[in-house]
Amino acid sequence: MRILVTGGAGFIGSHLVRRLLASEQDSVVNLDALRYSGNLGNLADVTGHARYVFVQGDICDATTVERIVREHRIEAVINCAAETHVDRSIVEPGGFARTDVVGTGVLLEEARKAGVSRFVQVSTDEVYGSVEVGSSREDDRLDPRSPYSASKAGGDLLVRSYWATYGFPVLITRGSNTYGPNQYPEKFVPLFVTNAIDDQPLPLYGDGRYRRDWLSVFDHCGAIEHVLHHGEPGGIYNIGGGNERENIAVAGTILNHLGKPPTLLRFVQDRPGHDRRYAVDCSRLRALGWSPTVPFETGLRATVDWYRDHQEWWRKIKSGEFRAYYEQMYGKRLKDGIPCAS
Ligand code: TYD
Repeated sequence: MRILVTGGAGFIGSHLVRRLLASEQDSVVNLDALRYSGNLGNLADVTGHARYVFVQGDICDATTVERIVREHRIEAVINCAAETHVDRSIVEPGGFARTDVVGTGVLLEEARKAGVSRFVQVSTDEVYGSVEVGSSREDDRLDPRSPYSASKAGGDLLVRSYWATYGFPVLITRGSNTYGPNQYPEKFVPLFVTNAIDDQPLPLYGDGRYRRDWLSVFDHCGAIEHVLHHGEPGGIYNIGGGNERENIAVAGTILNHLGKPPTLLRFVQDRPGHDRRYAVDCSRLRALGWSPTVPFETGLRATVDWYRDHQEWWRKIKSGEFRAYYEQMYGKRLKDGIPCAS
């Protein structure tokens, strides 16, 4: 297939581009605005590949999207382009609605007009909101509670409307917390790994007992590809790793792998509106023939090793724009933080 992947220079997008190119049947156009978390270094190994083209541009720009879809005779779109970090959405929500809702709308419309045959929206389990017990199913009520998850929910609703209104063959994936190489170090796992390598404190929000279901980026991309080829048009598919852990336990495992002491842990002021727990029921996707393959402890260890062995990748990021962000987000928090020695 000739596939347009948006946000292909980001974390999940870059792994997906590499995976699609490996399948040998697909060619890929990567449209990425290269904002703060987009990084062509993530795809250095596929630059110059015969079936790969990169275009710098914004999914909100209808002219660019229309041209790409027409010139490259795109058959499928996978929308990975998004603003994704909850903490940023709390301090600067505006860009989230723009990219995650308006951008999704532009892509949908250009893809529909061009007669694209599959449109996969890469979404998140956060649209269901906090799930105190049990697990979210695809038809559960959406209850997003941060500007980030609300924007993703808005995008999902637009995507669904294209199925109901136009019969446009859309699919939605809702992945759980994803970890792996090349993740921008604002997110929990890479922030904690890189801070620990530098003997810097690890800021655990609140009591550290928030729970997430951790999914390897390799499993996540496998699931997206599976849905692209086998999903029912109009369908929504949860993707989870089946690895529910408390944040404090994940932090402990990271410290263990690196041989660093628990005295690096700090309890810090909580995130406003912090969702206590996410959990997804993946039986629909399992019935379609997908299941995760990477055991969490193995995947996390390999991820920690990757950051230890690719310091030039994250040190460049952490010494740039990131410093102002880190100070804004963590300066006061860490000053007031409480060490946790056990
Ligand atoms: P994050 O990676 O931001 O993903 P999400 O909020 O989308 O699930 O955070 C994962 C969990 O880790 C979440 O419960 C918030 C928590 N967290 C911290 O305790 N400290 C931090 O510095 C960060 C970034 C996250």
